[in-house]
Amino acid sequence: MVNVALSARKSAAAATSSTVPLRRSGGGLAALLAEALGLWRGEAFAGFADESFASTAAAALEEQRLVAWEDYAGARLQLGDHAVLAGELGELIEQHPLRERLRAAHLRALHGSGRTTEALDSYRKLRRLLRDELGLEPGAELTALQEEMLSAGPPAPVQRQAPPTQTPLPAPQTELVGRDDAVADVRALLGTHRLVTLTGPGGVGKTRLALEVARAEDEACLVELAGLPRETTVDGLADVVAAALGIRDGARPQSSVERLAEALRGRRLLLVLDNCEHVVEPVAAFVPLVLPASDVRVLATSREPLDVSSEHLREVPPLDVPTPGAPSAELLRSGAVRLFAARASAASPGFALSAENAETPAGIRRRATAALRARRRRPHRKRAARRTPRQRPGIAGVPVAATGAGTR
Ligand SMILES: Nc1ncnc2c1ncn2[C@@H]1O[C@H](COP(=O)(O)OP(=O)(O)OP(=O)(O)O)[C@@H](O)[C@H]1O
Ligand SMILES: [Mg+2]
Repeated sequence: MVNVALSARKSAAAATSSTVPLRRSGGGLAALLAEALGLWRGEAFAGFADESFASTAAAALEEQRLVAWEDYAGARLQLGDHAVLAGELGELIEQHPLRERLRAAHLRALHGSGRTTEALDSYRKLRRLLRDELGLEPGAELTALQEEMLSAGPPAPVQRQAPPTQTPLPAPQTELVGRDDAVADVRALLGTHRLVTLTGPGGVGKTRLALEVARAEDEACLVELAGLPRETTVDGLADVVAAALGIRDGARPQSSVERLAEALRGRRLLLVLDNCEHVVEPVAAFVPLVLPASDVRVLATSREPLDVSSEHLREVPPLDVPTPGAPSAELLRSGAVRLFAARASAASPGFALSAENAETPAGIRRRATAALRARRRRPHRKRAARRTPRQRPGIAGVPVAATGAGTR
C-alpha cells in the first residue's frame, strides 16, 4: 500500500519535473502540466516526512511540485486565463507566501483580471513578510511588476494565442478526502441524465467534487461562472463557454448561443458550469438550447437549483462526522476529521492525527453541521435575494453558511 502511494507520488513528481518538454507552449503545456499535477495525490511520504530517510526526498518532491505549479501558472497567463488563475492560485499562495515566482504569477493574474488593488495589497503583504521574517526586500521582478501596476492603470487586454485552445481543467492542489462514493454516484447519474446539478451550501465541496468527476472523463471543460455579473445574458454566457472551449467565433449571422450549439453538434463532452447561483436564469435558459443538438452533458454546481425540467439535483452533504463519544477508530475514519488533519499537517508540518486529538475537529464539525441545519429550518428567503455575487470561497469542506463566513 505504502509502495503504491510512494510510486504514484514519484511518477507525479517525475512528470512534473524538468523532463516536461518546455518547448511546448500555451494550451499544450498547460494541459500537460495540469495532467501531471493531477497525478499528485497528497503530501509525499505522508506519515514518514519527519523520518530522516524520507525528509530530504519529500522536500525535493514538494519543490518539484511547486515549480510545476509556477510553470503551469505561466502557461495559463500566456493563454489569457487571468481571472480563473487568480482564484486557483489563492490557496497555494496562502500555503507558500514567500515564493516569489508564484506570487508574481498571482499578482499578474489579479492585475490582468482587473483586480489591481488586491494585487497591490498582496505585494505589500509579501514585502512585510519578507522584511519581518528574512530581513529582505522583494526581488527585481516583483518590484518591477509593482511599478508597472502603479503606473500603467488598467492592463491592456491580453491577446489570446491563435488558434484558441480549450482551457485545461484546473489541477487539484490537495488530495480529495471522503468523496469516493459521491464521485461514483455522480458519474453514474451522468450516464442517465444530461444535466446534473450539484447543490449545497458554500464551501461544502461542490466544485471540488465536480472537478474530480470531470477529471475522469475523456473530454471535459470547466467553465468558471463566479466572476460573471448578475446581468449576464444567454449570449454573454455562450461567449464565455465558447472561449473556455477554445471555439473560435465565426462571423455568421446567428446569435452566440446558436453558433455555440452548432459548433458543439456531434461533440461528446462534459461541460462543468461552476458556481451558477448568481447567474441561474441565463444558465437555465442556456442549457436547453445547447443540449439537444449535441452529445454534451452538463454538470452544474450551484448553491440553488437551476429549475430546468431536465435537471437532476444531487445534494452534496457535508463530509461525514462521527457521533459524539464514537470510538477512536471511527473518529480516525471520518472524512471531516481526515480533511481537518490534512489541512492541519499542511499548515503545521509536525501535526499528526491521533486518537487523542481527533475529537476536537469532530466537535467543530458537529457544531457547524448543527448550525447549518438550524439555518435550513429558517423560513426560505426569496431566490432573488439570495442571488448576490460571491464574496469569498468556502473553507475546506466546511459549509460557509454554517461558519457564518458567507453572504447568504
Ligand atoms: N472532499 C474534499 N477533500 C479535500 N478538499 C476539499 C474537499 N471538499 C472541499 N474541499 C476544499 O474545500 C474548499 C471549498 O470547497 P469547494 O470550493 O468545492 O466548495 P463549494 O461547495 O464549491 O463552495 P462555493 O459554493 O463557495 O463555490 C476548497 O479549497 C476545496 O478544495
Ligand atoms: Mg464552488
